[in-house]
Amino acid sequence: MALPPGPRTPAVVNTVRFAQRPLAALREWHRRFGDIFTVKMLGFGVGVYVVDPEAIRELFTGDQSDLEAGEANSFMEPILGPHSVLVLDGPEHLRQRKLLLPPFQGSRVGAFREIIRDVAEREIAGWRPRAEIVLRERMRALTFEVICRAVFGVTQRDRVERLRERLIAVVDSSPLFMISRAARADLGPLSPGGVFARRLRAADALLEEEIERRRGEPDLEQRSDVLSLLLRARDERGEGMTNAELRDELFTMLAAGHETTATGLAFAFELLLRTPRVLVRLREELEHGEDDAYLDAVVKETLRLRPVLDAAERTLTAPRTVAGWELPPGVKVYPGIALVHMREDLYPRPREFRPERFLQEGAESYSWLPFGGGIRRCIGAALALAEMAEVLRVAVPAVQLRPLRERPDPVVLRGITLAPRYGVRVAVERNVSRLLRDAGGDRQPSEFVSASA
Ligand code: HEM
Repeated sequence: MALPPGPRTPAVVNTVRFAQRPLAALREWHRRFGDIFTVKMLGFGVGVYVVDPEAIRELFTGDQSDLEAGEANSFMEPILGPHSVLVLDGPEHLRQRKLLLPPFQGSRVGAFREIIRDVAEREIAGWRPRAEIVLRERMRALTFEVICRAVFGVTQRDRVERLRERLIAVVDSSPLFMISRAARADLGPLSPGGVFARRLRAADALLEEEIERRRGEPDLEQRSDVLSLLLRARDERGEGMTNAELRDELFTMLAAGHETTATGLAFAFELLLRTPRVLVRLREELEHGEDDAYLDAVVKETLRLRPVLDAAERTLTAPRTVAGWELPPGVKVYPGIALVHMREDLYPRPREFRPERFLQEGAESYSWLPFGGGIRRCIGAALALAEMAEVLRVAVPAVQLRPLRERPDPVVLRGITLAPRYGVRVAVERNVSRLLRDAGGDRQPSEFVSASA
């Protein structure tokens, strides 16, 4: 079967181009080959990018049983575990997904906003005037804490710090441990595989301890954190989740939910700092506005212009017609999030950061796709949107930041995400945050010190 046209360059050339300048490479291929094109990349095989919202709608609605995503994510299994919703397909995936979705519904996430603001206030109070900070790193510390409190339901400071130490040690392990069984081989305590295995065991033991402790908590029925809701959840046969399933989903939510949101926030700050008109209006709206319409538009426009994932990914298990092309099984189809977001017909002057476009139009399901779609759409979308909005609500009126680089950070590939190359480095010019004032202006609130160390 013929595949849609695409670059004839070898896979290695395409991969290097994509890794160095993902957005520029994608834009060029789209310009040359149109709304559906084929690219060969190392480690990913043959992939067909789809940039037509109507074709994407067809993929994301109706029967999706011939589209797999878990298989493509299976390289993450050594960390996430075999029960992770990310690595499963078919009925097993749907079972986990049905259990996980309710705690993340918009109505539940509303209750997390206060937690997020609290975490953000303490984080931002630690940004000393004249200090230089890397926003993506600070946002990672912040989003980790939000996951601990809102998702794991752990608020005690020493337990949060223990989780941070043990889980981040695993999440930050070299990607080699995920892709290579040989690298994971435990050849003694000092071997790289041995160190990895030890870290994983330490993280697992702590998660097990938290799950068991929660099972025994007398107020389990009243608690609203995600872990407690999952402990109370039952599937269609009336069965609850096992500790092994809970462990895998907790790791999955951390891995899928903290760095992505942190990167989205780093991009939001970068775009705001480089577009003073928008920053001024946002500050004005936050201080005197009547609703959150502009704040929400800023978040949507950030994820449009700087989506954290360039594409969703599905592997065909049966022949399927996509945008008029009969594609064979085994082919990977990439609904092209970043390219759809750059379509001139949907977003006039697409490279401009202009939140106003979402004030008039709202966000259409198949032309605004930062969270993918269909039966694999991001489970944490509402939480991520709330996090981005609440952090900006706290930070924008409180701090004045100056970018340290003359030009915006280039967007590069970090693992499977798009990220600002230097993490958005800024100098703190002014900080009038409430907690800093309460602490006397020249001291850090004590709880914050360990988080920023
Ligand atoms: C700005 C932040 C985030 C972005 C841009 C993002 C984006 C995505 C995307 C594109 C997918 C794949 C969707 C598809 O294949 O159609 C996904 C899946 C997923 N995300 Fe997120 N995500 C974010 C935050 C979060 C958070 C906060 C959580 C949870 C705490 C989370 C949990 C998940 C899970 C569990 C999946 C797998 C769903 C499945 O396979 O059924 N994400 N995310």
